[in-house]
Amino acid sequence: MDLETARLRLRPVTTADVDALVDLDRDPAVMRFVSGGHATPREVIEDWVLPRAEAERRANRTGMWAAIDRGPAGFLGWFALRRPRHSSRPELELSYRLRREAWGRGLATEAARALMVMSFDDLAADRVFASTMAANMSSRRVMEKIGMRISAVRMGDAGQLSGEVEYELLRAHWESSLRGRSRHRRVVDLTA
Ligand SMILES: CC(C)(COP(=O)(O)OP(=O)(O)OC[C@H]1O[C@@H](n2cnc3c(N)ncnc32)[C@H](O)[C@@H]1OP(=O)(O)O)[C@@H](O)C(=O)NCCC(=O)NCCS
Repeated sequence: MDLETARLRLRPVTTADVDALVDLDRDPAVMRFVSGGHATPREVIEDWVLPRAEAERRANRTGMWAAIDRGPAGFLGWFALRRPRHSSRPELELSYRLRREAWGRGLATEAARALMVMSFDDLAADRVFASTMAANMSSRRVMEKIGMRISAVRMGDAGQLSGEVEYELLRAHWESSLRGRSRHRRVVDLTA
């Protein structure tokens, strides 16, 4: 399913995105809280990231969406929804990554909100969760701005900032107070 927000088009990633994905993960600032700054090898993207996203898309209508600027800037990063393999409840994990030049304009919040609408209204999730390093304040702020609340804290060896935090948004909270605030336009249902 493709989505449109005010400034972005979200469409499933394809093999044509390999170069852009490799380039995105080559920026140490982007990867700071993901891998300690290390780039992702091209073969990991080709042999693992993209096939897994495609399998998710086919099985659950989830997976990874390329975030394309509706203006001239093109590929800005990606957003993902994943159904945890061993979970017995209808829950989805949200994640995201944007090129550095796109940061600080509210784009992650805008796209993540659109994915919340899809998660609850189209994919029948009853919980969406996301995890990040505790020190990743911008990612945590995105989670807070879309209405998520802290659901777990895993302490690291050097105290809380080296640990991880998990945030969640429950269907009940979404329906009671957040749904009306999030608007997006569905463009094409590629899985129909
Ligand atoms: C996390 C990420 C997607 C956020 O994207 P973004 O488009 O800049 O996010 P938004 O602009 O929607 O919101 C960012 C918020 O964090 C805030 N922020 C940024 N740096 C911050 C910091 N050091 N401390 C506190 N808040 C911070 C911004 O002010 C903004 O909040 P505001 O709207 O209340 O002012 C982007 O930084 C990124 O791709 N990071 C690298 C990959 C990554 O860490 N992904 C998450 C891993 S789980």
